[in-house]
Amino acid sequence: MLQDDFRVAIDIGTTKVCTIIVRKRADRRIEVRGISIVPCNGMSKGMVADAAVVTAAIKKSVEAAASDAGVEVNAVYAGLTGSHIESKNRWANVPRSEGMRAVTDLDLSAAKKAAGAIDLGDDRRLLHVIPRSYALDGLHGVRNPLGMHTGELHIESHVITGSISKISELHNAVSDAGVRVSSLVVEPIASASAVLTADEREEGAVLVDVGGGTSDIAVYHNGAVIHTAVIPVGGFQFSNDLSIAFAIDFDSAEKLKIEYGTAAPELAGMNEEITLHPTTMKQPLTISKREIGQVLKERTTELFRMIQLKLEEPHLIDIPTDRIVFTGGGAKLNGFLNIAKYIFQRNVRLASPRGLDGMPEGTNDPAYSAAAGIALWGMRNLPAENHVSERKAASGFETSGATTNASTGALSVIRGWLQKREKETAGT
Ligand SMILES: Nc1ncnc2c1ncn2[C@@H]1O[C@H](COP(=O)(O)OP(=O)(O)OP(=O)(O)O)[C@@H](O)[C@H]1O
Ligand SMILES: [Mg+2]
Repeated sequence: MLQDDFRVAIDIGTTKVCTIIVRKRADRRIEVRGISIVPCNGMSKGMVADAAVVTAAIKKSVEAAASDAGVEVNAVYAGLTGSHIESKNRWANVPRSEGMRAVTDLDLSAAKKAAGAIDLGDDRRLLHVIPRSYALDGLHGVRNPLGMHTGELHIESHVITGSISKISELHNAVSDAGVRVSSLVVEPIASASAVLTADEREEGAVLVDVGGGTSDIAVYHNGAVIHTAVIPVGGFQFSNDLSIAFAIDFDSAEKLKIEYGTAAPELAGMNEEITLHPTTMKQPLTISKREIGQVLKERTTELFRMIQLKLEEPHLIDIPTDRIVFTGGGAKLNGFLNIAKYIFQRNVRLASPRGLDGMPEGTNDPAYSAAAGIALWGMRNLPAENHVSERKAASGFETSGATTNASTGALSVIRGWLQKREKETAGT
């Protein structure tokens, strides 16, 4: 087995932990070999709130995905989000020997180093230095300067940092589950890798991953990221609003939102009434879909206002961002895109992850974009790592590298989870 063909990605979300094991095939396509989703409520707004709960979910998810793929997992790429994430674009001069000469690989490494040479302060850690473009003797907009002749070389990069304490909490939660974090991938970058098309990245697009506890934003133009931001609002707040408005428990509110919720109550057929039996009430509760929609519309409008504010940055003024691509479970709310189109007056679409072969049925869903994207981004941008090793109890393990039926195993895990959710919903 070529172990460095495998990568393990773990998305520790506010509502679930999703582990995906991928492998790069000889034809360079990336296929899913193992996947597992484990519900988890140990995170709050993208950050660790209850470390023991998070660690237990990570352990369970990694073990299930490992068994699905027939490997042992040693290390992972872990997704990171939360409002402690900050980013900026900066230009840096690349120190090189004097005189006109061709740009080499060494110059490009020196460029990345120069781009990341910033004073971070005590509680900040550098997470990504993503090159955007280069300037050769003052000529801007060069994307790949390798082999070009220049005296002076400058790099423009998108630099992302995070809080050391928040990062350590996530690191510890993963390492306590018995796996090493080989790299962190910031979630807006991950989700964008899984959903944006090459045209969207080139011509300009805004990616918004509306999760359970955060909405992660990434803006792309000229093929590279130009802006990232995290808003500490996601699907949790939508359900919480319903819970408060109708004085029902959170779980009933969550089911109400998913089954009957809409962000566009004015759309036809909303006078239908629903009778609920919340665990917190002795009497059944009757509410109209329109009432539910009114609460959800207000929260949707508020979220869109916050997204709009995050896009009102001086460096985005001339960027054509007339396309907004939504992903994440929270964006699946009925009527969400109708309101988005109306408020933003831009083209909008809801996207599921693309670029991975063999995603099992049920996981080709906006909720898994970040997990798929961590795997894709890591595979494309990070150095080869020994994330997996041969499974000790070698059940169904193939050393030849021939395709195993990973998705069959994955399907059973996903089916079990979906069935559990269906049962819970039926019991509303
Ligand atoms: N059909 C639906 N309609 C409305 N909301 C939905 C629907 N399906 C899922 N959701 C919401 O999506 C949210 C979970 O989305 P997702 O799985 O992307 O979040 P997460 O990755 O766990 O969280 P985060 O990325 O914020 O850390 C929940 O709040 C859930 O209520
Ligand atoms: Mg998420």
